[in-house]
Amino acid sequence: MAILSNLSVILILRILHIGGGIMWVGSATLYLLLLIPAARTAQSAGQKFLQTLGPKFGAMMGMVTTVTVLSGALLYARFFAGGISFIWNTGAGFAFTIGAVAALGSYALGAGYFGKTQEKIGKLGAEMESAQSAPNPAKVQEMNRLQSSLMKAYQFDFILLVVAMLAMAVARYL
Ligand code: HEM
Repeated sequence: MAILSNLSVILILRILHIGGGIMWVGSATLYLLLLIPAARTAQSAGQKFLQTLGPKFGAMMGMVTTVTVLSGALLYARFFAGGISFIWNTGAGFAFTIGAVAALGSYALGAGYFGKTQEKIGKLGAEMESAQSAPNPAKVQEMNRLQSSLMKAYQFDFILLVVAMLAMAVARYL
C-alpha cells in the first residue's frame, strides 16, 4: 500500500502506536502492582473500588489497546513489501514479530477473559453480599477460584507486556 510510505501517515501511526503502547503498559503496571494490592489491603472497600473502576478502566483499555494494535499492524505491514522473510532474515523483523505476538496475546486476554471474569466476580460478590444467611461455602469456593485464576492471568499478561515492550524497544538496533 503506497499510502503507508507517506511520511505524514507514518508519523501519525507512530504517535498513535507509541502513545497507545505507553498507556497500555503503564496502566497495566499501575493496576497490577499498585491498585490490586492496595484494594486487597482495603478489603471490602477495596473490592468496591475495583468494581467501580472496572467498567471505565475496561472501556479505556479497550480503546487504547485497539489503537495500539491497529496502528502497529499497519506499521508492521510496511515490512511486508520485501516479503515475509524479513522475520527470520533480520534481527529487527524477528524482534518486532516477537513483540507483536506477545502484545496480541495480551490483547486476546484482555478482550476475551478479563472483562468476563471481572463481571462474574462482581455478580457473585453482589449475590453473596445480599444473602441474609452465612456465606454459602460453594460460592466462597467459586469466588476464590475466579479471583485466583484472574490474578494468574494478570501476571501472565504482565509478562507478555514486558516481552512486547522489550522487543519493541530494541528491535530497530538488532
Ligand atoms: C504492548 C504493546 C506495544 C508496545 C508497548 C509497543 C511499542 C512500540 C515502540 C516504543 C515502538 C518504536 C520502536 C522504534 O521505533 O525503535 C514500536 C514500533 C513498532 N511496533 Fe509496537 N508496540 C506494541 C505492540 C505492537 C503490536 C501489537 C504490533 C503489530 C501488530 C506492533 C508493531 C510495531 C512495528 C511494526 C513497529 C515499527 C514501526 C516503524 O518502523 O516505524 N507493536 N512499538
